[in-house]
Amino acid sequence: MGAVEIVTVDSPKAAVLRRRAKPVGKVTADVGRLIEEMIEAMRLANGVGLAAPQVGVSKRLFVAEVEARVHVVVDPQIVKMEGEALATEGCLSIPGWVADVPRSQRVVLKGKNRRGRGITLDAEGLLARVIQHEVDHLNGVLFLDRVVDRSTIREAAATTEVEPAEPAEPAPAGG
Ligand code: NI
Repeated sequence: MGAVEIVTVDSPKAAVLRRRAKPVGKVTADVGRLIEEMIEAMRLANGVGLAAPQVGVSKRLFVAEVEARVHVVVDPQIVKMEGEALATEGCLSIPGWVADVPRSQRVVLKGKNRRGRGITLDAEGLLARVIQHEVDHLNGVLFLDRVVDRSTIREAAATTEVEPAEPAEPAPAGG
C-alpha cells in the first residue's frame, strides 16, 4: 500500500484541518481500511496520534499509539475532563513547531472501536493529552489555538504529534 499523505497547514488541502468533521456512523469495511492506513501513516511519521482530517478525510475518528498500545476511536465523545496539566505538544500537520499547551490531566472518552463496538477509555497523562489533541482535530481546532503562553511557541528539529511529557528540555513527539 502506498503511504498516505499527511495534510499540513501549508498544503493545498489545508482547509480540511479547519472543518468540523462528520460522524462516521457505521464502521464499514471502507472505514476499516482507512483505520489501517491511518495507523500506518502515524507510525511512519513517528506520531503518537492521528485524526482522519489529517489524511484529508473529514470524518470523526482518530488513532493513537501510547506505551505500545494502539487505540482506535470512532465518533469519540469526551464525557469527563478532570485536572490540569501543561506539557509540550507538536502536530504532524504543523511541522517544525512545538509549544506548551494546557490540557485536562484526565479524560473519559466514549466511542466505538474498529469493530463498531461501544468503548469507554479512561485516560490520564500522555494518552489523555493525545485524546484531547485528536478530538480537537475533529472540531477543526489545532494545538496552537490552545496555547496560552505564546512565548513557549518554538521551532523544533523533529516533528511529532504531541510531545511525551518531559518538563525540562523537551524533545518533540507529535501527531
Ligand atoms: Ni495534530
